[in-house]
Amino acid sequence: MERIGVLTGGGDCPGLNAAIRAVVRKARALGYDVIGLRRGWRGLMEKDIVSLNLDSVSGILPKGGTILGTSRTNPYKSAEDAAVAQKNFKELQLKALVAIGGEDTLGVAAKLSRDGFPVIGVPKTIDGDIWGTEATIGFDTAVNIATDAIDRLHSTAESHDRVMIVEIMGRHAGWLALRSGLAGGADLILIPEVPTNIQSITETIIKRHKRGKNFSIVVVSEGAKVDFGEAESTEVLKNAELDEFGHVSLGGVANVLASKLKAITHFDTRVTTLGHVQRGGTPTAFDRALASHLGVLAVSLIHQGKSGRMVALKDGRFTDVDLEGVLGKLRLVDEGEYRVAEVFFG
Ligand code: F6P
Repeated sequence: MERIGVLTGGGDCPGLNAAIRAVVRKARALGYDVIGLRRGWRGLMEKDIVSLNLDSVSGILPKGGTILGTSRTNPYKSAEDAAVAQKNFKELQLKALVAIGGEDTLGVAAKLSRDGFPVIGVPKTIDGDIWGTEATIGFDTAVNIATDAIDRLHSTAESHDRVMIVEIMGRHAGWLALRSGLAGGADLILIPEVPTNIQSITETIIKRHKRGKNFSIVVVSEGAKVDFGEAESTEVLKNAELDEFGHVSLGGVANVLASKLKAITHFDTRVTTLGHVQRGGTPTAFDRALASHLGVLAVSLIHQGKSGRMVALKDGRFTDVDLEGVLGKLRLVDEGEYRVAEVFFG
């Protein structure tokens, strides 16, 4: 029996299990043996595998997280590691591998594919910023979680006459902050794609209070570029250590913003950092359906002998795009969409 591998890499998100289930169901239907590689690319480096069958994926559709585990391991961080990954790929006798992940995981998938090891990528990230697809697994659920949080913050902000600053994930792209802020009725949304400064932010909030509103909700992306006129002007870092793909850990911009805003306006201000709550729990119906479609399509491509492709949603249709073409680019918020959200500011 020919064998297909599947792994989940990078940050987890709701819908990964739905995708794993889809891969296993379609692969078994086509007569393939399936193995899961544990903890992303680390599973390939350590040959840490688990056999997957219909029983192992039964009941996992609505479950958050990933039954395979995940990590930010980068097998291409050195030539030696890449050689181990390639040797193990051969020894595991994989016809092909389905790599479910974000830009980093997909980058490794593209390199393996270029080096002659068949891989198909499946896009996931709550950031929603992968080039070449209109949807990524996990984004819709995260938007709903964040919107619910903003709704809840409205009543407490109003009761206490407070400015509530909500920090939302999104390393490079503001999609999550923008969509949840728009849906939750935020009075101001700050995203990485639209740099701003503390003067402009305070003006918007003061103007709003002058027209009789006693509270405000400010949604800020963790990667927002805010000029505070001082050292903190650029990205606020939680942890400056780099991960294996060279990323720092973002977080804390809401706290800096709150203290500056309070110092200038004297409005009572509080911070809520949603953090990993946005990545937890059961996926929405949209994410379950999306993950199921993408997982099935990934196996269909393998069955057709394809490699180096990423399954995607484009112009409302499920399709596949060149994996290499996705790399080094990000799907960022376009100005037009931000201008719509701006109508509701202040
Ligand atoms: O890429 C998804 C994401 O949730 C980003 O929005 C965030 O910056 C990062 O992962 C957080 O990563 P970690 O789980 O390592 O804290």
